[in-house]
Amino acid sequence: MHFTLRQLVIFQAVAENLSFTRAAEALHLSQPAVSMQIRQLEDHVELPLFEQLGRKVYLTEAGRELYDYSRRITDQLRELEEVLNALKGVTAGSLRVSVATTANEFSARMLAGFGQQHPGSALSLDVTNRAMLIHQLNANECDLVIMGRPPDGLDVVARPFLENPLVVIAAPTHPLAGNTEIALTQLASEPFVLREPGSGTRGAMERVFAAQGIAINRRMELGNNEAVKQVVSAGLGLAVVSAHTVVQELETGRLVILQAEDFPILREWYLVHRRGKRLSPVAQAFCEFVLKNAETFRATSALPD
Ligand code: PGA
Repeated sequence: MHFTLRQLVIFQAVAENLSFTRAAEALHLSQPAVSMQIRQLEDHVELPLFEQLGRKVYLTEAGRELYDYSRRITDQLRELEEVLNALKGVTAGSLRVSVATTANEFSARMLAGFGQQHPGSALSLDVTNRAMLIHQLNANECDLVIMGRPPDGLDVVARPFLENPLVVIAAPTHPLAGNTEIALTQLASEPFVLREPGSGTRGAMERVFAAQGIAINRRMELGNNEAVKQVVSAGLGLAVVSAHTVVQELETGRLVILQAEDFPILREWYLVHRRGKRLSPVAQAFCEFVLKNAETFRATSALPD
């Protein structure tokens, strides 16, 4: 087989986009150039790699096999580059950090602070929920992850670096606002605004309620904290969120924290990577930066006494 690395990169782009046009755009090539490279690659491997059904492009079985190997080859090349850079003592380089939706704001501030100290580094931040972070760790799609609890069943190095208390929030006009001891059973009849399935916040909340055998009265499901806060402050229900995401709303009186039994749920933020992954010098520098400075980047604590 005589194909080139360039052809593998083009093949990967088509496989990931399942579109010749989008792959061409991503690689800044013309679509005929991409099609030609794929045709040549198919000639080399003597099997079709894609099939087109209607307007959709699919990988053939050979395409799926090639994609699997091709990912490993390009991962290894990237790692090789990082190892060689480490030997040269270079701390510039690229860094892909993926963070939980809830950690979005302070993570962006940390990355900006780190970027100022390391102007030669190319940093990217992906914001997604817990389920997707686990997928990314599994597929080696990022260098470091910031998440709420290390995943079970995946061999990772996980270092806690900041507390993440989860609290019950309500509109200030809510009848339970100001009560000092709210039993969890009292919350059973309250409508709740939940985060989407796959959210770490939601998982933690569900575990606390399930432990007491209390069913959650689900009113609405929303995909991010901002939307959840809006709906709660409009009086449509209660919600559980990280205390660090409601600092401003508590200050301005748009939301209050309910003093509920078993709350706050005390969680921590973890810096996570796959065990055995060779961290590049820039990734190592970022880890040190986070472990040392995280406290200064979070919003001032909003925890009640
Ligand atoms: P999430 O937060 O709800 O935004 O996924 C992560 C976590 O607390 O685990």
